[in-house]
Amino acid sequence: MKNKTIYLKDYKVSSYFVESIDLTYELKKDYTLVTNESKFYKNINSKEDNILKLNWNNLDIIGIFLDWKKISIEIDSNIELIEDNTILFLNDLPDTFELKIVTKIYPHKNTSLEWLYVSNWIYCTQCEPEGFRNMTYYLDRPDVLSVYSTKIIADKQDNPVLLSNWNLIESWDLEDGKHYALWKDPFKKPSYLFALVAWKLDYIESSFTTFRWKEVTLRIFTEPHNINRCDFAMASLKRAMKWDEDRFWLEYDLDLFMIVAIDDFNSGAMENKWLNIFNSAVVFATPETATDKDYIYIERVIWHEYFHNWTWDRVTCRDWFQLSLKEWLTVFRDSEFSADMHSKSTKRIEDVRYLCNYQFREDASPMSHPIRPSFFEEISNFYTLTVYEKWAEVVRMYQTILWKSWFRKWMDLYFERHDWQAVTTEDFLNAMQDANNMNLSQFQTWYDQAWTPIVDVSSNFSAEKKIYTLTFKQSCPVRQWEKRKNPFIIPIKFWLIDSSGDEIKLENDIIILTKEEEKFEFNNIENEPVPSLLRDFSAPIILNYNYSFEKYSFLIENDSNEFNRFNAMQNFSTELLVNIVNSWVYELNDLFKNSFKSILIDDTIWNSFKAECITLPSETLIADKIWKNINPQKIFEARKYLITSLIEEFEVEFLKIYDNLKKKIDYKIDSEDIWNRKLKNVCLEYISFKNWPSNVYKAYLDSNNMTDSFSALSILSKIECKERDEVLDDFYNKWNFDPITIDKWFSVQATSPLENTLDNIKKLSKHKLFDITNPNKVRALFNSFSMLNPVIFNKPESYEFIADKVLELDKINPAIASRLVKNMINWKKLESNLWEKLRLQLLRISNEPWLSWIVLEVVKKSL
Ligand code: BES
Ligand code: ZN
Repeated sequence: MKNKTIYLKDYKVSSYFVESIDLTYELKKDYTLVTNESKFYKNINSKEDNILKLNWNNLDIIGIFLDWKKISIEIDSNIELIEDNTILFLNDLPDTFELKIVTKIYPHKNTSLEWLYVSNWIYCTQCEPEGFRNMTYYLDRPDVLSVYSTKIIADKQDNPVLLSNWNLIESWDLEDGKHYALWKDPFKKPSYLFALVAWKLDYIESSFTTFRWKEVTLRIFTEPHNINRCDFAMASLKRAMKWDEDRFWLEYDLDLFMIVAIDDFNSGAMENKWLNIFNSAVVFATPETATDKDYIYIERVIWHEYFHNWTWDRVTCRDWFQLSLKEWLTVFRDSEFSADMHSKSTKRIEDVRYLCNYQFREDASPMSHPIRPSFFEEISNFYTLTVYEKWAEVVRMYQTILWKSWFRKWMDLYFERHDWQAVTTEDFLNAMQDANNMNLSQFQTWYDQAWTPIVDVSSNFSAEKKIYTLTFKQSCPVRQWEKRKNPFIIPIKFWLIDSSGDEIKLENDIIILTKEEEKFEFNNIENEPVPSLLRDFSAPIILNYNYSFEKYSFLIENDSNEFNRFNAMQNFSTELLVNIVNSWVYELNDLFKNSFKSILIDDTIWNSFKAECITLPSETLIADKIWKNINPQKIFEARKYLITSLIEEFEVEFLKIYDNLKKKIDYKIDSEDIWNRKLKNVCLEYISFKNWPSNVYKAYLDSNNMTDSFSALSILSKIECKERDEVLDDFYNKWNFDPITIDKWFSVQATSPLENTLDNIKKLSKHKLFDITNPNKVRALFNSFSMLNPVIFNKPESYEFIADKVLELDKINPAIASRLVKNMINWKKLESNLWEKLRLQLLRISNEPWLSWIVLEVVKKSL
């Protein structure tokens, strides 16, 4: 099979740097002409000869001029085009020189949604990680920073708004109805942060005064008909700016900040310096169209991209192996912000649920990789949960070990050393050690070793000596490319609880593991305690301790750590479900019933926490626990059985909570109301198993906001009844004009476990509102199906259908095809007959002669 692996160890500094780059984009009807005039100078730290290696991909070249003299590839012997058509070599160059390169590109034909493309008439760019090389020849690598100027020339009537990064220097009318705008950077930036936008856009404007009394103008651009849907995004942006000042003293460094919302976007949003480009789905929010979850996510993405301004628009990555470096801190910062804004334990529960459901799954899949990979073929495949979420967890561990002021100390030193530089993981670690005066080198294991570590804990109590001992053994499977694994540094937050439920007095609430096996002794312990381990999920590990069902219910009732109370409940229900699946014995355990009830009827528990505790683990989480010979149908049945038994048992209690919460009809988007709606809708789902579909139907009709109507819609979409069709039709009729909201209609149908779901998805994929070139539509229909509907997805016909779609998408948008195929390779632990069927489809994909590199890399790993 083909292979083009790039290794971290092969990194070399660039032999040249770019002092400045002047770009001209002439946007014409069928093509765009790009003129790139760059001033190069020799990098004195490079040991290479005077050779320039410019990245390029699929370009029509019009001309190259070296110091104003035209050179041509055929004639000049010092210019060679080699290496798979991706690098242009120029040999024997002077130490400084200017290069002018003119290329012709075709944004209207570009369906990849990278580099320059057209989304709903809007010209826009996506250059991270390596899009820039599709527009012009350049040192398209994050460690080459330069000052950009961008002149955009276009027809004024078609493209009245012309935007690029940083300061608008001038704009002027030209003849033939054309006009231009010239933008220029005051500071250096890498090519992946370049951005350009053009079209008939409108904007809302607001302003923010920084703590040094600088006025910053804020603008959100969109097409005029969506302009009234951006107010929430604007308010979120201001909250983010304020928090970054309060918490980190980071003031926005320019006087304008712009966001553009577009419909076709491969991910959520992109942090281009001062011209962020966003998927409209993470900008538009009104109560009629956005659920509480949407609001929270929109806010999170806005914060995330804003926080990038410092981390890492200013301090950036040396190479793409260091990708986590720029994402983790931003993810960590945005989750800290959410915790500050909403509730610490809810946020923690949500983050951990996400981590265990998705990142652990990835780390156990053929795509498993360290947070800093040492090799890859396509970096685009590595914008993964491991890079984002696991590294954010690693940072959380620093926080747990170093305590409060660590972050400020580190951050101050880090910026002092590295502002405007391109850095590595080692720079980060060094600053962390130096700022805290501590040897933290063992943290390196987290960067370089893949897979979720497993920690087996056992306990021993000597009544005679009054000594309680905890023994920890850590292990982690070794992957093909690893020789061996070194032990991780793992902070275990814990406490011991005595039999009456009181906390035992201890000196320390944290154990730091550094070896493969360690014992910890506690003296003067009167009776055997119950350990509350891994409080707040203090490390991204799988912790095994042989809790009996009695101990789980003890912790559910007595643990003062809210997270661990929740976790005891989750582990209890997971074990119960695994038992049901493995033994086929359907019975509701009494201890579980009592614990569940104690949470359900406890009025002192706040609602979001209650909702989390009574939500059963997902089917995929149960599958991951079962680990081998997975049968998704059995898991589905077991889960359904447990829900049904619980509602049989507690119908009165569920209805009481539901009816009470139903009375709160005022709609507000604040934490309290969000939590109320969350609990109300979790209860409604339970009730639907007993008393369907009338209650749910009524809830749909009565709702005055999208959270409630969408909840009712998704519950009904899982039930075969006439109300289901009515509600789906009603939703369609209300929202068919709005491409963002109608995606909900696609996704609820894709996630329904009803028998005819696959046929329905096939039909929907031909629907007039479905468009395979739009990633939001693909996510709504195909990704929701393959990620969130394990029972219907795991059928041979579904595998074949999704494989067809991967192949179809690969020709349109390989990055999106690659994300879809990742959902297929996650299922290696299936029962062998199913896996064999799935494997055949993966094989079929891999045999496609023109398959993109990005999809091939993923599929190859799974075979
Ligand atoms: N820099 C990324 C956007 C990106 C993703 C560029 C993939 C190239 C390839 C951006 O900062 C990001 O991480 N966005 C996330 C949202 C965030 C809240 C995790 C996204 O788009 O999903
Ligand atoms: Zn990011």
